[in-house]
Amino acid sequence: MGNVVKKAVFPVGGMGTRFLPATKALPKEMLPIVDKPLIQYAVEEAISAGIEEFIFVTGRGKTAIEDHFDQSAELLNLLSKRNKQNDLKKIMEGIPKPGAIAYTRQQEPLGLGHAIWCARNLIGQDTFAVLLADDIFMSQKSCLKQMIDEYDGNGGMVAVEEIEGEEISNYGVLNVDSMQGNKIKINGLVEKPEYSKAPSKYAVVGRYILTPKIFEYLDKQKKGAGNEIQLTDALSWTAKNENYFGLKINGERFDCGSKIGYLRANISFAINRDDLSEEILKYLRKLN
Ligand code: UTP
Repeated sequence: MGNVVKKAVFPVGGMGTRFLPATKALPKEMLPIVDKPLIQYAVEEAISAGIEEFIFVTGRGKTAIEDHFDQSAELLNLLSKRNKQNDLKKIMEGIPKPGAIAYTRQQEPLGLGHAIWCARNLIGQDTFAVLLADDIFMSQKSCLKQMIDEYDGNGGMVAVEEIEGEEISNYGVLNVDSMQGNKIKINGLVEKPEYSKAPSKYAVVGRYILTPKIFEYLDKQKKGAGNEIQLTDALSWTAKNENYFGLKINGERFDCGSKIGYLRANISFAINRDDLSEEILKYLRKLN
């Protein structure tokens, strides 16, 4: 079937406190992996999956993100004068067409569910994707493309990773109805459960396909774990009313919202680059 998911929401309204002081004046989503900001990896992934409308839910201090996806006349002039074709290509790549990006603001960071709710008027009646820039994937087929290829046009889908041990308590966790190959039918979700109470080892990671049904729950503005308006609670309610599936993703995920995940991503992406691989590996061997 054709691609029914054309809109994507990028919630970038969080405070990024785990990266202070770097995030005092710089949005967390602008932190680079090697030489590209996290948010650009997410936008390129959305483009690769056929997304045509890009909705950013921003907040105070996030204007660098808007500037990043704009054209810089000075930079274009300077690079053309110096005949730097490669650099010119780099700054033009991964920028959606004029008019394809819309920005709305979350005035207060009340939680991920609240950030998504802020996009409700821009979403209208359409099925939409959500991409959290903190999670980036190294995979042959991009994470969102894997999901859209498996999506049958009904209900919703979340990206899933199997997490062993106590670390599961850091995630939204699936209550499993049934396993269907690499798809898991969901009958509920729990945000950050205690290890002993986790309903499964299947954790939600930062990619979602959602229907506007979710706004019926988010409209209530109910607070959940950590006193935040949680997307997981809204998903749990929606999964009881519509068909929701988890999809086990092929590839490696890096949690760039944590320092260790961010550092791992920088090393792994550098090793994967022809221009850096040899030197970085030489350096790592020397440290060992
Ligand atoms: P996180 O909880 O990982 O981001 O949310 P954070 O709150 O910015 O980071 P820390 O924990 O303080 O370091 C995941 C994603 O959801 C967005 C964040 O910007 C991030 O991309 N988010 C979170 C919002 O847009 N609004 C919120 O109220 C909360």
